[in-house]
Amino acid sequence: MAMARCLLLLAIVSLAAAEGGGNNSTDSAGQVRLSCGASAPATDSDGRAWEGDSTSKFLASTNAGVAARASYQDPPLPSSVPYVTARVFASSHTYTFLVSPGRVFLRLYFYPADYSNVTIQYPPSVPPHIAPEGVYASARSMGPYAQINLNYNLTWILPVDSGFYYLLRFHFCEVLYPITKVNQRSFFIYINNQTAQEQMDVIGRSGGIGVPVYTDYLVVTTGSGQTDMWVALHPDLSSRPEYFDAILNGLEVFKLQTYGSNNLAGANLPIPQKQPYQGEFKRKSAVAAAVGGAVAGGLLAVLIGCLCACGICRRGRKATSVVVCEPEAVPEQPAHHGLLSSTKSSALFKSGQT
Ligand SMILES: *[C@@H]1O[C@H](CO)[C@@H](O)[C@H](O)[C@H]1NC(C)=O
Ligand SMILES: *[C@@H]1O[C@H](CO)[C@@H](O)[C@H](O)[C@H]1NC(C)=O
Ligand SMILES: *[C@@H]1O[C@H](CO)[C@@H](O)[C@H](O)[C@H]1NC(C)=O
Ligand SMILES: *[C@@H]1O[C@H](CO)[C@@H](O)[C@H](O)[C@H]1NC(C)=O
Ligand SMILES: *[C@@H]1O[C@H](CO)[C@@H](O)[C@H](O)[C@H]1NC(C)=O
Repeated sequence: MAMARCLLLLAIVSLAAAEGGGNNSTDSAGQVRLSCGASAPATDSDGRAWEGDSTSKFLASTNAGVAARASYQDPPLPSSVPYVTARVFASSHTYTFLVSPGRVFLRLYFYPADYSNVTIQYPPSVPPHIAPEGVYASARSMGPYAQINLNYNLTWILPVDSGFYYLLRFHFCEVLYPITKVNQRSFFIYINNQTAQEQMDVIGRSGGIGVPVYTDYLVVTTGSGQTDMWVALHPDLSSRPEYFDAILNGLEVFKLQTYGSNNLAGANLPIPQKQPYQGEFKRKSAVAAAVGGAVAGGLLAVLIGCLCACGICRRGRKATSVVVCEPEAVPEQPAHHGLLSSTKSSALFKSGQT
């Protein structure tokens, strides 16, 4: 009797147990190939047959996690079977294999990707050209520990040129169960240490899980030279939300011409350090800043895809890309709120769709 006990939050992709009947050979008659999260049998690129675990006798049906599919498949992946399906467990679960006594060779297959069983449904207010599904299907959140989340801000630091207007477009979409209702997750959005939004509730805005929504803010910077734009999220407890957490699926930063100027030029960006910022964060969270390049049509856009794996931040495979988009109309000369004073200051304005 061999047991594989899975305490994984994510991405047990498949499992193969091979038994040699009393010796150590791996005769094909003694092999089990199980593709987790798959509901039908399939064959991999080597011609080996895999059975789906949804209907198999190896997976106890009670509380058997959630079948999910990777949101993307890297070109070097040798075969989609068994890698692109997974079973996601929120608690411990047991697969049971009946084998003959002797040596058993157990091989676990993993594929790190975003898994969700949520389909993205664009509402009329968010046309699909606003951002592709991949932006909304993945997210960065703070993590599962309320006390840790209350002690830090989920922060992005974006180097920008002073003296320009910036349109910040935040893309949101709840993609993970159990967050399906209003007031389960409510948070602050800070831009340059000012409160841009209180009680941001993605479900409240979008209407449901899998439904995208975006909000725009205009930031006015003055002075010249490089400066850092800070974007931070923090749980807002004022409405007593169920979870103390925050989420962001994507962020675009559009550099805009200032009023009366037709110049978008700024000083050359310094060669980036390996880690542009390492500091007070308790968790190694997402300092994914990619400002630079791509100036076209008078706009600089930076898109940061945020990846989330049940609050466990992965490093090294951030979906960071630079795109150029057309922004919604923004006020040509927003009213200043008396926030501009020193050489490098910024003012924040709400604009566009909410
Ligand atoms: C090992 O096990 C396989 C399959 O059970 C069997 O065909 C083979 O004869 C065995 N070899 C030895 C040396 O026992
Ligand atoms: C079985 O295992 C023994 C000891 O680990 C090894 O010497 C032998 O070569 C193995 N036989 C096969 C067929 O793999
Ligand atoms: C995704 O998983 C959740 C939680 O188990 C379930 O309630 C929901 O119906 C599933 N959605 C789909 C589309 O399978
Ligand atoms: C925001 O606050 C941090 C910490 O107090 C400070 O280091 C940083 O310079 C501030 N950023 C801006 C843009 O004001
Ligand atoms: C988060 O950022 C805001 C705005 O800069 C600041 O007021 C607050 O103290 C920060 N909270 C933590 C825990 O760092």
